[in-house]
Amino acid sequence: MDALIDLARRARDNAHAPYSRFHVGAAVEGESGRLFAGANVENAAYPQGQCAESSAIGAMVTAGDRRIRRIVVMGGEPGDGTLCTPCGGCRQRLREFAGPDTPVHVCGPEGLRRTFTLGELLPHSFGPDNLGF
Ligand code: THU
Repeated sequence: MDALIDLARRARDNAHAPYSRFHVGAAVEGESGRLFAGANVENAAYPQGQCAESSAIGAMVTAGDRRIRRIVVMGGEPGDGTLCTPCGGCRQRLREFAGPDTPVHVCGPEGLRRTFTLGELLPHSFGPDNLGF
């Protein structure tokens, strides 16, 4: 757990978020046991920005893994008490590679704040099984 949190923290440090100034890091453990990190990457053409979860998923898929065992998302400022839960689009992106029992650890820079399952964040979801995959 600590290694995944550390990875998300380092990714958050490298976020490119000059417009929102909201730095987010994410890290996933793939089915191989390897860990992959990503940061949010904003763009002057605002809609072209990418969430940290998307970056981490992209790194995992690029390396060949196709299942997510667990994910850490880290956002906010130390002690602000907020929960940087994945946005709606990223919940669906995670769903492509994770099931309802997959833990989503929501962190601040100081560490774990709360753990959800993906099923709690995205109930009754549409996924690959709906298409017979
Ligand atoms: N953001 C993420 O990267 N992940 C989340 O879970 C929530 C929001 C990013 C998108 C944008 O760059 C910034 O945070 C503010 O919305």
